[in-house]
Amino acid sequence: MKKEEKYRELLPKVRALVGGETDRIANMANVAALLHLEMGFWWTGFYRVEGQELVLGPFQGPVACTRIPFGRGVCGTAWRERKTIVVPDVEQFPGHIACSSESRSEIVVPVWQGDEIVAVLDIDSRELGTFDETDRHYLEQIAAL
Ligand code: SME
Repeated sequence: MKKEEKYRELLPKVRALVGGETDRIANMANVAALLHLEMGFWWTGFYRVEGQELVLGPFQGPVACTRIPFGRGVCGTAWRERKTIVVPDVEQFPGHIACSSESRSEIVVPVWQGDEIVAVLDIDSRELGTFDETDRHYLEQIAAL
């Protein structure tokens, strides 16, 4: 199945999962699990905004760094620039934080509540160039839910 079809099938599942629950951590946990299993990602998770840092939230995959300062790494940069960042090759991204040496490409999508970023959704791949505009399009919709 093509990536786009997988995302299209995923959207109503995410809507159903988070629609009846208001707890943000519970929703992040289920969305991370769903994305990880259905899309076959290598690391899928959330970092939550806590003061001037991002703190590791619900995730699926290998253990990861727990705290990321504002503006640092791909996650901190997406937070500072208030936009999704697609990194086709992490070695070409200045300041990339290597939680794992196996990570080769990455996408980070801000999670908004009103006009405030409350978390970022971070997905890592062991292959180069995994993420593109299709991922950005659908992951932004999922983060908005
Ligand atoms: N590589 C990320 C750090 C988080 S881990 O990949 C899970 C970054 O540069 O922000």
